[in-house]
Amino acid sequence: MVPEMDQDQFAWDESYDTGNEKIDRDHKQIFMAANLLHKAIEKKAEAAVMDKCLELLLEYTVFHFNREIAFFKSISSTVLKDHQAYHDELFAEITTIRNNQGKISDHDLGLALENWITNRLLPHIMEKDIEALNSVPNPFANL
Ligand SMILES: [Fe+2]
Repeated sequence: MVPEMDQDQFAWDESYDTGNEKIDRDHKQIFMAANLLHKAIEKKAEAAVMDKCLELLLEYTVFHFNREIAFFKSISSTVLKDHQAYHDELFAEITTIRNNQGKISDHDLGLALENWITNRLLPHIMEKDIEALNSVPNPFANL
């Protein structure tokens, strides 16, 4: 009998593949953090655990945005400015979500963030990151 597997809420598949190994590795870390957050919400984890999951996801996302921009700069990407603007927009959105910390329950904050991941962050990876990497001369240059 096959044991029941714990399915990840955010499952990586090839549609998220940007063709750049290092950026994909970062994105996979974001998926991991998003799945941790989902599990914490599902299990109604205590406040401290939820807080750590939120922090991990927010901080890693910002770290990754900066790394991506540094990379696009290093290869003189033609879409650098547009991409920076997309990141600024996404950053403003997660900042708004984070500003609710302490005002609403961590559980509701987690749900808001999960909603943002599904509707904003994942489409960004699938569309804008892939578009940016396809528009530069050498998508396989090192980060
Ligand atoms: Fe991006």
